[in-house]
Amino acid sequence: MLALIQHRLWQVVDEARANVARMLGADAGEIVFTSGGTESNNMVINTAIAHFQQLHPSAGGSDGDAGDGGGGGGKPHVVTSNLEHDSVALVLEHLQGLGAIDVTVVRAAPGTCAVEAADVAAAVTANTCLVTLMLANNETGWVGDGASCSVGDGCSFGNAVRLASGCSERLATMTCRP
Ligand SMILES: Cc1ncc(COP(=O)(O)O)c(C=O)c1O
Repeated sequence: MLALIQHRLWQVVDEARANVARMLGADAGEIVFTSGGTESNNMVINTAIAHFQQLHPSAGGSDGDAGDGGGGGGKPHVVTSNLEHDSVALVLEHLQGLGAIDVTVVRAAPGTCAVEAADVAAAVTANTCLVTLMLANNETGWVGDGASCSVGDGCSFGNAVRLASGCSERLATMTCRP
């Protein structure tokens, strides 16, 4: 009896996974359910950093220069904004405090509260392994007007900069919407 219930539960989860994948245009195998936003954000941040460290085993060495342009040395670098939820901001602050990563905080424009794509692009270096930006603010209710699109443009530009500097892997982009 227990096995039957268990089987049915797996079926329900798998159906939900397939539905979410279809909604996002992703493969079901790419969908991971978590307990909530905080766990998801932590998972993405730590995975992006671990991935960078795997690709660059010598990274995090003595130079600590996020902008070395060569994609070889230096620490993993993360671009974020000054609007982020604590589940992102505090994790990045903590890792930076440990000396494990470099972080660039892009400030939102005062008039619009928008993070400008050009500012994001300018912050990207050869060591940038993650751009993490809020798409909608959980406190003010502000929703970026086309933010994911314009930030996507900024990241495309950042990828072009990285390719030109000999760094082959693409940037990870995370936008959080509560
Ligand atoms: C953008 C964002 N990220 C993360 C969280 C935290 O989510 P959770 O409470 O599910 O851990 C929130 C909560 O409001 C949020 O607005």
